Parts: sequence; C-alpha cells; structure tokens
Amino acid sequence: MKPPLKIAVAGLGTVGSGVLQLLDRQADVVARRAGRRIVVVAVSARDRRRDRGVDLSSVRWYEDAVAMAADPEVDVVVELIGGAQGVACAVLDTALEHRKHVVTANKALMAHDGTRLAMRAEERNLILSFEAAVAGGIPVIKALREGLAGNRLERVYGILNGTSNYVLTTMRELGHEFAEVLAEAQRLGYAEADPSFDIDGVDAAHKLAILASVGFGRPVDLDGVYTEGIRHVSRLDIEFAEELGYRIKLLGIARLTEEGLEQRVHPCMVRRETPIAAVEGVYNAVVAEGDFVGRVVLQGRGAGAAPTASAVAADLIDIAAERRVPPFGLPASDLRRIPSVAMERHHSAYYIRLMVVDQPGVIADIAAALRDEQVSMEAMIQRGRAPGEAVPVVMTTHITVEAAMQRALEKIEALDSVLEPPRMIRIEDF
Ligand SMILES: NC(=O)c1ccc[n+]([C@@H]2O[C@H](COP(=O)([O-])OP(=O)(O)OC[C@H]3O[C@@H](n4cnc5c(N)ncnc54)[C@H](OP(=O)(O)O)[C@@H]3O)[C@@H](O)[C@H]2O)c1
Repeated sequence: MKPPLKIAVAGLGTVGSGVLQLLDRQADVVARRAGRRIVVVAVSARDRRRDRGVDLSSVRWYEDAVAMAADPEVDVVVELIGGAQGVACAVLDTALEHRKHVVTANKALMAHDGTRLAMRAEERNLILSFEAAVAGGIPVIKALREGLAGNRLERVYGILNGTSNYVLTTMRELGHEFAEVLAEAQRLGYAEADPSFDIDGVDAAHKLAILASVGFGRPVDLDGVYTEGIRHVSRLDIEFAEELGYRIKLLGIARLTEEGLEQRVHPCMVRRETPIAAVEGVYNAVVAEGDFVGRVVLQGRGAGAAPTASAVAADLIDIAAERRVPPFGLPASDLRRIPSVAMERHHSAYYIRLMVVDQPGVIADIAAALRDEQVSMEAMIQRGRAPGEAVPVVMTTHITVEAAMQRALEKIEALDSVLEPPRMIRIEDF
C-alpha cells in the first residue's frame, strides 16, 4: 500500500466532526477504496475543549487554521469552517499557495469565488473538490461532471435547501402558516436562529450557481441568479395549489434557452405527479435533463453531519487514489461565458392570488388589466360569496412573458377593490 494521505481539517462543527467520525469508523473500507490510508494529522477549530466525538490526542491542534494550511506535513486541507470571506478563504488560498490539494463544503465561498479558486488550483496542478457544497450527501457534482459528461444538458433543477422544503411540507401537512412552522423548525433545530439564508433562497442560489457552472461549463455567476424565497407563500396558496393539482416547492433552476442561460431560485408550482413534487421534508433532489440520457433524478439527504461527511470522504478518496477531473469538468480557463437571461424575459405560466372586495365589476377590472398586457387567463377560482367582504380570487394564466405579468400585477394592485399586494407563484412545467 502507498504511504498514507495526510490531511488537515479546518472546522470541527457539524460537518467537520462528521468527517472525523467517518474517517475513524470507516478507516478500513476507505483505505481499500483509496489504495492507501487517509490519516488526520492536524485540526483547527475555536474551542479546543469541545468534544468532537473522536480521540484527537495524537492529532496536532492549531489555534490558527491559516497557519495549519501551510503545515509542511499536510497533503490535503479540508475547509469546513464556512463563510464567503474571511478565514475560510484564507485557509484555501494558503493551502493552494503551499501546494496542497483542497476539499471544501463551503457553497457560499464556491459561489462567490469558485472560478478563481479553480484557476489557482489548476495553475499549480492541484485538486479542488467541493462535492459536499451542493446537496450534501447526494453525489450531484460527480454525476453532472463525470457521469453525464457525454450529454448536452438542457436543464438542471432541484430542491436545494432542506429547511425551506421542510417548512413548505409542514405547512401543507399541518395546514399552518409560514411563521408558525418556521418558529417550530427553529425550536427543533431544523432552521437556524437567523433563517434568512435558507428561507430567502440565498443558500439555494449559491448551490444553483455552482451546479450551473458544472452543468453548463461556464464560470460561476452568482450575480446572474434571480433569487426569491418562500416568506410570502401562505397556507391559502398551498391549499389552492392542492386544488389545482400542484405542490409548491422552492426550486433552483438552470435552463439553457435560445437567449442564454436562465438561473433562478423561487417558489414554483409543480404538478403533483412529478418526481420532484414527491420530495418532502428535509430531503433534497436534483434533476438533470440531458440530450442523450433524458431525465436523471437524484434524491437524498442534503445536509447533516453524516451525509455531508459522506461527500467529503468521496472527495478525499478520489484525491488519495489520484483520480482527477478539473473542478468544473473542464479547465477553468475554458469555461465559456453564456449570456444570462434576465428574469423579465422569462416565459412561464403563473398562479395569481388576490384578496378582493366581493362586489360587482371587480373581476371585469382584473380581466381588463390582464388583457391590456396580453396575459391570457387559463382558469379562475372564486370560493364562496361574501358581498362587501374580502374574498380570495385565484387565477392561472397561459404561458406569458414575466415583464408583461409584472406590469399586469402592478395595474391589478392599484385597483381599489384589491386589498393586498397580489401573490404570484410561477408554474413550472416538468
Ligand atoms: N451543516 C451541514 O449540514 C452542511 C451541509 C453542507 C455544507 N455545509 C457547509 O459546511 C461548512 C461547515 O458547516 P457546519 O454546519 O459544520 O458549521 P458549524 O457547525 O458552524 O462549524 C463551524 C466550525 O468552524 C470552526 N471555526 C469557526 N471559526 C473558526 C476559525 N476562525 N478558525 C478555525 N475554526 C473555526 C468552529 O469552531 P468551534 O466548534 O470551536 O466553534 C466549528 O468547529 C459550511 O461552509 C457549510 O455551508 C454544511
């Protein structure tokens, strides 16, 4: 057997501890698959006294993770601290500077800085791996980059944030409102104290930008991702979606059109019988559509210590076995800029929910606003009658361009009989 691969782990939180435990418990199986042992020789975190679930007495402890990244004994640095800037970035830069391979689970950093890091790694003939950064335990980077390499991808989409999916699933199952379910998720530890990254679509946008880069061979372009979260989805919308045969999911979608690449994260209505609609709770899923392969669906746990450690371990085994593929599937200098399609030019069918005063002429005014913008209505639901009171009115439209839909919504919102800003959810056809 070859000499062991010596690794340093920066960050021993949820993922870092999981990695230490996996490498400890699965040492033999990992060594057989890697052709050599993978040995942790150095670690760094903030609190040295905290129990990480493994014996670290013979492992060098660094107060300074950046200094550890320069340790001459180390072959690979695993960055599991997190954050788009600061110490995580310094750890990776220092490791590459000192000619060490790097593995990270840091989607924020890869989404902001992935192309630059890939270039740096390639210039020095080093490996940069980030399987754990997208969809946790689901080996989606490897699947897109290697398993589907013979295809031109047309669309890649998925449920990329388990917290949002858990909230939407629980709202539907219990018939509760968003705020109530979020508070309960926070109590149970499924949502962070500051949930905005998950709930406002930012985390999914990071992952989508990385996926789009791997899937479409373009530099990572986080700024090109349209991002909208789930705060405005109400129990009422979920009920209407059910009535219309849909489920509401927060999806990240990258799609190649004649105009360029769409990258968007927003709540979607998807037909109940589609595979993605059945992905519930904290589970993630990624669907890739390729010209030769057709549709491939990958589903599993998108977060948590053990699934994420599984992805980090796979990256380490590849490095130990000297299997190398450029980080984004082709050399970073060959990544091709594809124009981003602005959201205003996106075409979709739409679900609209209004709260209106139940009085004669209201529907005619709404229909006129839609007609003026050439938005064609497909169906309408008006539940119950309550003359003079507020009632919900729901409409679905035929495919229309987003800019026209937005103009129509502005006109509708300005009507006296419309009591709240209209709620709009895009209907995605899979
Ligand atoms: N959690 C998941 O399920 C998951 C899934 C996929 C990807 N990720 C990504 O994995 C990364 C780590 O996430 P996590 O959930 O494991 O985070 P976490 O539980 O908050 O752990 C962060 C770790 O970094 C250490 N740390 C913080 N500042 C440090 C510094 N200046 N120097 C050295 N160590 C420092 C902390 O030390 P102390 O323990 O001493 O405080 C802690 O061990 C993030 O990029 C995240 O996005 C997480």
